[in-house]
Amino acid sequence: MKPKKKHLLLLWMFICSGMTEAIEPISTSIAVGMAAALTGFLASYQNIFYYFHECCRPEWISFNKTGLQVDLERKLFGQHIASRIILKAVTGFMSNDNPRKPLVLSLHGWTGTGKNFVSQLIAENIYKEGMDSNFVHIFTSELHFPHASQLETYKSQLQQWIKGNVTNCAHSMFIFDEMDKMHPGLIDGIKPYLDYYDKLDGVSYRKAIFIFLSNAGGESIIQTALNFWKGGRDREEIELRDLETELSLAVFNNKKSGLWHTSLIDKNLVDFFVPFLPLEFRHIVQCAMAEMKARGLKPDQSVAEQVAEDVVYFPKAERVFSVKGCKTIESKLDYYA
Ligand SMILES: Nc1ncnc2c1ncn2[C@@H]1O[C@H](COP(=O)(O)OP(=O)(O)OP(=O)(O)O)[C@@H](O)[C@H]1O
Ligand SMILES: *[C@@H]1O[C@H](CO)[C@@H](O)[C@H](O)[C@H]1NC(C)=O
Ligand SMILES: *[C@@H]1O[C@H](CO)[C@@H](O)[C@H](O)[C@H]1NC(C)=O
Ligand SMILES: [Mg+2]
Repeated sequence: MKPKKKHLLLLWMFICSGMTEAIEPISTSIAVGMAAALTGFLASYQNIFYYFHECCRPEWISFNKTGLQVDLERKLFGQHIASRIILKAVTGFMSNDNPRKPLVLSLHGWTGTGKNFVSQLIAENIYKEGMDSNFVHIFTSELHFPHASQLETYKSQLQQWIKGNVTNCAHSMFIFDEMDKMHPGLIDGIKPYLDYYDKLDGVSYRKAIFIFLSNAGGESIIQTALNFWKGGRDREEIELRDLETELSLAVFNNKKSGLWHTSLIDKNLVDFFVPFLPLEFRHIVQCAMAEMKARGLKPDQSVAEQVAEDVVYFPKAERVFSVKGCKTIESKLDYYA
């Protein structure tokens, strides 16, 4: 490797690790001296360097704002509020070179409304390998932390995982599924990483993304959506402020929820609460059409409507919202197609 390239590499390392802000004008010459001294070292330890800062490589990670916008518009159905918040939050965070804290999103809503699906869309537009990326980590309470008696073990393991992964890649993403079933002690264990610390034990967590998924507050969101429906108002008229108070009350008052027990909420560690609305007949049709397309079949409106017709809706009399959202569409389609 030519010396010039090595310098570029070093510069890149500084940029990647967010150290640029630490270089003051006076110390620049020292840094240059250091750079010269380090080039030899770097040349031989290049692979290690790559390993530790792997995700800085543009072939692994590069945020595509247009991609996220287009995906949210075209692939996510019936979630105008969530779509707007997610795009703003993720774009704002990813275009900030020096965020003051990690991005923490809490996604709430009824089953099958697209919470995991949105996490996937976000991952696909940040990481080249999407959900398969080594920098995306999913934890499910019942799968990863099933026994309350093992709490202390889980907690220290989880903390080590977060620390280890963020050390390797500042832009790591952690998705906590079934957050409402998570032990409060475990949530307490991750709280420090969500806060406004410059560094903890020499590691900065400010470029990481944490996404919490839960059904907490789902029923209060449904109540609001149902009130709009009964009032003959358009679904798209529902605004965040129509849901916010109800949502936070529902989450706060649910004493079984881990979110309630911890001070996650009142310490303002969550940057955005994102409500997911229950899905209607027309959205189920859209999901069925999308699924046919994904299977390489020609989307057939009448088949899609048949599938949607077969789904269970509530309240029983009015049949407004799908009980399982779009969740069972895949298997239903096997039956019809
Ligand atoms: N709003 C939506 N737009 C498009 N597809 C959706 C939507 N909601 C759900 N789907 C489809 O249904 C599948 C299941 O949804 P998803 O797993 O995201 O639900 P969820 O909100 O996480 O539910 P749960 O609370 O039960 O975990 C998704 O993979 C996606 O294909
Ligand atoms: C970003 O997404 C858009 C829309 O999906 C796509 O056309 C474009 O090629 C993507 N850009 C990159 C660099 O991947
Ligand atoms: C990163 O997280 C995964 C779990 O997703 C864990 O298995 C792995 O050990 C962690 N890596 C480090 C270096 O801690
Ligand atoms: Mg889910």
